[in-house]
Amino acid sequence: MKASKEIVVSGIRPTGNLHLGNYMGAVKNFIKMQYDYQCYFFIADYHSLTTHPNPKDLHENIKTVLAEYLACGLDPDACALYIQSDLTQIPELYMLLNMHAYLGELERVASFKDKARTQPNNINAGLLTYPVLMAADIIIHKAVKVPVGKDQEQHLEMARNFANRFNRIYSCDIFPEPHAFNYGTELIKIPGLQGGGKMSKSDGDNNVINLSDSPDVIRKKISRAVTDTGPTEANSTPTSSVQNLFDLMQAVSASDALNHYKIAYANCSIRYGDMKKQLAEDMITFLQPIREKIEAIKKDDALLSKVAKIGAEKALESTSKTMKEVREAVGFKSF
Ligand code: ADP
Ligand code: TRP
Repeated sequence: MKASKEIVVSGIRPTGNLHLGNYMGAVKNFIKMQYDYQCYFFIADYHSLTTHPNPKDLHENIKTVLAEYLACGLDPDACALYIQSDLTQIPELYMLLNMHAYLGELERVASFKDKARTQPNNINAGLLTYPVLMAADIIIHKAVKVPVGKDQEQHLEMARNFANRFNRIYSCDIFPEPHAFNYGTELIKIPGLQGGGKMSKSDGDNNVINLSDSPDVIRKKISRAVTDTGPTEANSTPTSSVQNLFDLMQAVSASDALNHYKIAYANCSIRYGDMKKQLAEDMITFLQPIREKIEAIKKDDALLSKVAKIGAEKALESTSKTMKEVREAVGFKSF
């Protein structure tokens, strides 16, 4: 990897199977970027500890995401593909950044407010400082581009604040500003199947299409997706749940199929049952090659452990280099 290439970092928490939202919002970009940039892609296992997973599940989920990354086409020779908890420099930088992260700004973060509302009995300090750890993940490699979905925009803004603040306080120029990235013009939000909101693991299995879902499961989930009673006026605007189906079709179907149903909606002749059948078959075709690879790779422990080891070595080179500069800037110099 040439040093002149722009640096890219992104990660996904190991909280279950990867789904279509993760793929479209994040992983699809990773695959395209890995040959054009110096890329660091990881499994954000420290981040998943905020919800206290049991150790056995956590271990299994780390393995799943690693296998799914590979099945989607991440190439461990082209990028650094690693497990976050293999790098002790990341929590070290997180701790240093925490000294300049303020309660007020952390409490205002939308994802914190959401989680505090949905898990009132577990509003821990890790949850509050989640954006600080995420900033550490990114700036420790001096990344400038971060491929993520739209929901991560605010976290990126915080990462820029923490990077700039560190440079200013310690009169240095260690960290460049990271920005959210997507190959299209806008960051992506894939909708869930149950209407409204984004496709997310936390909203239950019926809301998501997992990359590993079998054809039957995909057919069942899509047939149960929320719709409405149908348009009654020509050229009306679809309700959000129907727009969701159009958005999913846009993601996996050919443009003539999408246009066909758009026209049918506009002239009120649409049959949601037919549209769902088409969407399900297109989804199955789209995901089949990935699903087959996941099954094979997940069984290959030797491959997974080799990939994780090589990835950690590559990442370590970069994290230890940055931390040397950071420790000096802070005043930790040897006598
Ligand atoms: P989840 O919300 O299911 O827990 P994560 O928060 O682990 O997923 O997301 C990992 C990556 O996938 C992030 O870059 C995030 O922006 C992206 N992502 C997750 N859900 C979606 C979605 N529905 N649409 C677009 N991108 C998404
Ligand atoms: N916060 C991200 C999410 O929930 C995951 C993540 C952790 C991440 N650290 C990161 C994404 C660094 C990009 C860069 O999806």
